Amino acid sequence: MTIKRTKAVVLPLYNDNLIRALLGLKIEEREIPELKPDEVLIKLGASPCNPSDIAFLRGGYNIVKPVPVVPGFEAMGEVVETGTEAQHLLNKKVSCFSQEDSDGTWAEYFRAKAKDCIVLKDGINNDQAACLSINPLTAVGMFELVEKAGNVPFVLNAAGGQVPVFMRVLAAEKGIEVINIVRKEEQVEQLRNAGQKMVLNSTAEDFSDQLAQACNTLNPLFAFDAVASEISGQMLNSLPEEGTLVIYGGLSGQSVSGIDTMGVIFKRKKVIGFNLNEWIAEMDENTFKEQTNHVQDLFIEEKFKTQIQGSYKLEDVVTGIRAYIKSMSAGKILLKGDL
Ligand SMILES: NC(=O)c1ccc[n+]([C@@H]2O[C@H](COP(=O)([O-])OP(=O)(O)OC[C@H]3O[C@@H](n4cnc5c(N)ncnc54)[C@H](OP(=O)(O)O)[C@@H]3O)[C@@H](O)[C@H]2O)c1
Repeated sequence: MTIKRTKAVVLPLYNDNLIRALLGLKIEEREIPELKPDEVLIKLGASPCNPSDIAFLRGGYNIVKPVPVVPGFEAMGEVVETGTEAQHLLNKKVSCFSQEDSDGTWAEYFRAKAKDCIVLKDGINNDQAACLSINPLTAVGMFELVEKAGNVPFVLNAAGGQVPVFMRVLAAEKGIEVINIVRKEEQVEQLRNAGQKMVLNSTAEDFSDQLAQACNTLNPLFAFDAVASEISGQMLNSLPEEGTLVIYGGLSGQSVSGIDTMGVIFKRKKVIGFNLNEWIAEMDENTFKEQTNHVQDLFIEEKFKTQIQGSYKLEDVVTGIRAYIKSMSAGKILLKGDL
């Protein structure tokens, strides 16, 4: 290996207090371990900060790696070195999503498994390619439930976020109506201006009634929940018989609550989770390729577009993340390399 060290964002300690966790971040020179046969070394193009990264910095994510560690689960870049079994990827531009138990993507150079690399098609730009996996594939994966149920209407909370943006595109292609829930009046306006007919503000006094009324009108069979709190109960309780609450995020940091017991017993309502890692693990290699090709095409056709509010150098990681947590609906922030 010729590249043995890299500049990286390093998290020395997890801290439940996000501001303290951010203030603890350091920019350091990190040693790059020798590549295994199935690994590649990638020169960073761009890597986003997602809610999973925020949860990771706080030590509150599903994945806790030994510290000090480089954060970052998703990125695009160019393969500059490979292990013996991954030579086919040399010099290729790739996007990758990796939650291996080692340093992540917020570095000038980072390692990834060849199996986690998606070779990029022409026509997809670096910034969009950096956000190719986590949110787009989650939307596609969750939308399969909607399709299997016969293209039924559904409810989305945190509807100003990126996963809901992609879910709405997929719904529009099939002519499916959506009930959107946001927490700020400006987001209500934005979604209405973008053509959404049903947009509710969860802070309204009569929100529960509005939601029940909207569900009576549309009969949605699914509610996709990125927040998890008493709103989860409100969503499930408003669904008709056989309705399913799909929990895929815990943005509130609270427990799911307020579920009507009788609805679960007598109306066969269900609560399930969605986990992107599991959805990917259930696919064979060919199906994964088909899914990622499909997602790349959606980006190239500009049907999918991740909103990006700003790009930052690795050194400016704290400024970037502060901007992101101030207004997540304004879009992702990217940490940029020199590609
Ligand atoms: N299960 C999986 O496999 C999987 C995969 C991908 C993503 N996820 C999860 O999906 C969730 C959404 O991700 P994303 O990338 O779509 O988010 P995003 O684009 O960063 O946007 C987050 C959205 O949630 C809103 N929000 C944040 N905290 C909230 C709260 N406490 N109550 C209500 N709304 C809140 C934000 O509104 P403001 O602008 O008002 O802050 C923003 O509209 C995250 O929890 C993420 O971890 C899970």
